[in-house]
Amino acid sequence: MASETEPQPVMTPGVEPSSGESHSPPASLPNDGIWDRKGKNVSNSDWNDAEANKLPEKVKELDKKGELPKDTERKRVVVVGLGMVGIAFIEKLMKYDVKRREYDVIVIGEEPHLAYNRVGLTSFFQHREVENLYLNPKEWYSSMPEGSLNYHLNTMVTEINPQDKVVKTSSGQSVPYDILVLATGSDAVLPRHTPGHDAKGVFVYRTIDDLQKLIEFSSTRKGTTGAVVGGGLLGLEAAHAMMDLEDFAQVKLIERNRWVLSRQLDGDAGGMVVEQVRALGLDVMLSKRVGKILTTDDNSVKGVVFEDGDEMECACICFAIGIKARDELARKAGIKCADRGGGIVVAPDLATSAPDIYAIGECASWENQTFGLIAPGVEMADVLAFNLTQAKAHSPRKFKRPDLSTKLKLLGVEVASFGDFFADRDGPKEMPGRQRAEKKEGINGTRDKVKSLTDGPAPPPVKALTYKDPFQQVYKKYIFTMDGKYLLGGMMIGDTKDYVKLVPMVKNQKQLEVPPSEFIVGAQKGDDDGDDLDDDTQICSCHNVSKGDVVTSVKDGTCKSIGDVKSCTKAGTGCGGCMPLVQTIFNKTMSSMGQEVKNHLCPHFEHSRADLWNIVYVKGLKEFADVMKECGTDPNSTGCEACKPTIASIISSLFNKHLLDKERRGLQETNDRFLANIQRNGTFSVIPRVSGGEITPEKLIIIGMVAKKYNLYTKITGGQRIDMFGARKQDLPAIWQELIDGGMESGHAYAKSLRTVKSCVGTTWCRFGIGDSVGMAVRLEERYKSIRSPHKIKGGVSGCVRECAEAQNKDFGLIATEKGFNIFVGGNGGAKPRHSELLAKDVPPDDVVPILDRYLAFYIRTADKLQRTARWMENLPGGIKYLQEVILEDKLGISGELEKQMEQLVGSFFCEWTEVLKDPAKKAWFNQFANTDETINDTIEPTKEREQERPSYWPKDSVTEDFRGTKWTELSWQPLVKAEEFKDAPTGDSRAIKRGDTQLAVFKVKGKWYCTQQMCPHKRAFVLSDGLIGDDIANNKLWVSCPYHKRNYELGGENAGRCANDESVNIATFPVEARDDGWVYVKLPSVEELDGVLGTEKFKIKKSETTDPFEALDRKLEAMKMKGRKGIAASHLEGGLGQRGKAAMILAGGERGAGGLDW
Ligand SMILES: Cc1cc2nc3c(=O)[nH]c(=O)nc-3n(C[C@H](O)[C@H](O)[C@H](O)COP(=O)(O)OP(=O)(O)OC[C@H]3O[C@@H](n4cnc5c(N)ncnc54)[C@H](O)[C@@H]3O)c2cc1C
Ligand code: SF4
Ligand code: FES
Repeated sequence: MASETEPQPVMTPGVEPSSGESHSPPASLPNDGIWDRKGKNVSNSDWNDAEANKLPEKVKELDKKGELPKDTERKRVVVVGLGMVGIAFIEKLMKYDVKRREYDVIVIGEEPHLAYNRVGLTSFFQHREVENLYLNPKEWYSSMPEGSLNYHLNTMVTEINPQDKVVKTSSGQSVPYDILVLATGSDAVLPRHTPGHDAKGVFVYRTIDDLQKLIEFSSTRKGTTGAVVGGGLLGLEAAHAMMDLEDFAQVKLIERNRWVLSRQLDGDAGGMVVEQVRALGLDVMLSKRVGKILTTDDNSVKGVVFEDGDEMECACICFAIGIKARDELARKAGIKCADRGGGIVVAPDLATSAPDIYAIGECASWENQTFGLIAPGVEMADVLAFNLTQAKAHSPRKFKRPDLSTKLKLLGVEVASFGDFFADRDGPKEMPGRQRAEKKEGINGTRDKVKSLTDGPAPPPVKALTYKDPFQQVYKKYIFTMDGKYLLGGMMIGDTKDYVKLVPMVKNQKQLEVPPSEFIVGAQKGDDDGDDLDDDTQICSCHNVSKGDVVTSVKDGTCKSIGDVKSCTKAGTGCGGCMPLVQTIFNKTMSSMGQEVKNHLCPHFEHSRADLWNIVYVKGLKEFADVMKECGTDPNSTGCEACKPTIASIISSLFNKHLLDKERRGLQETNDRFLANIQRNGTFSVIPRVSGGEITPEKLIIIGMVAKKYNLYTKITGGQRIDMFGARKQDLPAIWQELIDGGMESGHAYAKSLRTVKSCVGTTWCRFGIGDSVGMAVRLEERYKSIRSPHKIKGGVSGCVRECAEAQNKDFGLIATEKGFNIFVGGNGGAKPRHSELLAKDVPPDDVVPILDRYLAFYIRTADKLQRTARWMENLPGGIKYLQEVILEDKLGISGELEKQMEQLVGSFFCEWTEVLKDPAKKAWFNQFANTDETINDTIEPTKEREQERPSYWPKDSVTEDFRGTKWTELSWQPLVKAEEFKDAPTGDSRAIKRGDTQLAVFKVKGKWYCTQQMCPHKRAFVLSDGLIGDDIANNKLWVSCPYHKRNYELGGENAGRCANDESVNIATFPVEARDDGWVYVKLPSVEELDGVLGTEKFKIKKSETTDPFEALDRKLEAMKMKGRKGIAASHLEGGLGQRGKAAMILAGGERGAGGLDW
């Protein structure tokens, strides 16, 4: 850490950049001279890290919110060289560090300018404005948090003292460092052994200064010949620039090889380029080496003599024969440099041989190579910045073999080479997948060595597919493995449009899905949106429905919804595989008729869920009744089982109110109403939260104790939790109490909200792990838990590409990469599974949360009712691309708002179970009956299986008894329950009542009372009082919807008891009224008669009623003498205690067999 007494850096006086006003490029930049993917006509700022461009706003915002850490202990990073890589490093460090503020940066640059776009240097010929090349405007530097970035320009670092951790500068200053980063780049090579190399008129092509001098000189030599030595990328670019200067009568390019661009192209391709550039007016001289530069008396260039004795006149020579890493500073300080080729030797983490000194960019030598391209340098910058800031939550990154693919447009000629483009000449550098083994047997293998003695060297184990069109001047060579299954690399001239598609194929090393020939001749376009289908094309093979059938049914008005299409044509009602196509055809036909495809919530709201979200949000409506008044079809309606939970979810996801507040309890589905999952027998399951699947032994013991105490069946879930089944409603608060007491919480296994974030073990334990998947999963689950959404959400984090957490099957999933995490979204999909899509690549750990915040908030806002992220993504116009624009590029300008929304939700978290324990009124909801503390348990007889109890299976058939038509002998008014047990909620209220052995459900809706049997005859489930109440005011209907399978029973009127959606079942209803004595009276038959018809015991599902589905299989296994089912609970050891004895012993304090719990 730099101490406070040490000299503080100052900006070198008088050498500030002349201007930093603008960093946008001039409108007239030429569209040629491109060396790679990034066109040189792109804005300079496009070379920057995209997020670094936005840093000033971010810093401002953080500052405004007071979130910029001010008093942290900061380390000093000194960067030598303010070139393209130096600035890339600074940008990335600033970006990663902005919220932590661990580092202050001082950069010292030899050139008099701020970091500029060397790649776009040639454009200087046109605009001659240095500021136009600035990668960041001057203000960018000053907008960084105070003290975090200082620069010295026109200052050379002359010495490094690694012992004292100080550098000395040409202006006499000593600057101490904690970390030193050398980004000194390269020098252009001048052939100092060639006589005349120091003459007037000899130039190189590297810096703004070089260009300024060349421009000035050439204006004094109008009409002469200009020469460029070197036919590589830079030479062609320099030659082009000199032609454009229009000072020279002609420009000659001198190349020692037989073709140009020999480092990128083979003879055929290079020859084709020569032909084309010659046609454009450049005089290319091949196989020529400059032996001597001829000079005049005043030492000005007048010509050259070639090694073959030829002579040529010229007044100006620009050398573009290569670059040499600037390692002199490091060498002087004793830092290890490469003997051959030069460069500061770096390890994969970019560390040099001296402690705390790193080297990046063209000056660094990695595996004996230096790189003269910007991309590897930027990657080095990223690796180093990442490791300095992110390596706490992620394993450190390493610099790997860079991709040297190049795409260029030189003098109007399109040229590209990608991947291992000389694999056919030099042999493949690497072989993909299983082919690696085969490679050994190829040119390098022993067998071939022997063979080569007789047959000569074996050809490289690759095959090249070549296409040459001399008319269009197009050449393509793609190199494949011998079996044609992998693309290794290639080159193209004239037509490079496939470059973007092919480069990732090479990088990913994925097996090809099409034969190699398709890369040249192309494939037929497939059809997937139905547009090109003829009307008689069969689209549903299960029911032989043609496209025309669907279109006609919509056009003639028969079908107005997709449901109509299904019931009318039967399309999609078989295997369902054709549904996406049917839906597309339906949507397209509707819109061709100018009709909107409606996605209204239900008859109570002529709005989609997304519209309602906006209405509720903008108008700040916090209660269901207010929403209904504001935009319901009937302002006085109670709503129904479709709109109530949806609006409850919207209100929760906006205002985060407790679900069981009086006004909202009646909106919740049964699970939400009891904050647990209702099961077949009317009991509940409790799934304690186990964030990221990580759990301590103590918590495991607590779960075991709770399960034991309440006789709960336990099972490990697919989401890495432990599910405890069979909890009675009335026991739920006590169970929560035990869990919360032990520092746990009951989890959301019920709500439409985040369930779990599954994790693999990642760097915590796994030998392959590169990211801390557990740590990330725990953080994400803790962040998003309890937030209500249109459907349930699941997450996953895998520590590497092996994907053990199956993160790509989740609503959001992270897979650790070398650089951070790839974020996938829109997976899962329930009944129709869907693989997720890549939203963002290589996101550093620090940036994962903002991206997920935006994504989830956007989904919550815009999804349809009960629409999973998978379907939502499928329906987003523009799909993942659009989502990327919204989430990553902020196309709609709402990302700040989305983050804020999520922040508010996260910030307002409360433990909903604790709130129940604290509030006696809420706790009272959990009594089984409103009129007595007596209970009725086990409405399904338990079956013991594998040492645990579960409810016996449901019988297949419903009870079809006509309860509605029961002829009671005599009915009389009975006071059953206190009226005060019912709340006057606009959504209605209901409770279960016990009378004798019969269970009844009493409802109070808008001051009116209703009473029905509690049992739904469909599955003999005693649950109706927990159902949602719905109404249709226009038709005077009121119903309760069974919480299990949504059979809707009318509560009043002449059809009271009728099931609206299943004719085979109906229920008994009874007259009911509240009287002045405070009691609710129900007109009922005698206890005996009622029990005789509706008694619980009578309908209890018995074990004997159901058949064991494994009976036949078990017999077979027995016959085969398979012992797999035995010995599960017993010990295989002699005198072993078995599971019960052992557990009792452990809990009793470790003494074998001693007392302990009574298991
Ligand atoms: C005309 C031209 C076109 C190019 N086009 C492309 C292209 O299309 N695609 C591509 O990938 N690459 C291209 N390149 C290469 C690319 O510009 C370089 O790879 C990149 O600039 C390297 O960045 P760097 O920071 O390592 O070095 P530089 O950008 O050279 O920066 C190093 C800086 O350090 C300074 N320095 C050195 N020693 C000291 C010291 N002791 N004290 C203080 N300062 C010091 C130097 O003055 C320099 O400013 C092109 C290069 C040129 C010249
Ligand atoms: S995904 Fe599998 S292999 Fe990779 S880190 Fe996780 S557990 Fe290890
Ligand atoms: S039990 Fe199935 S609808 Fe009620």
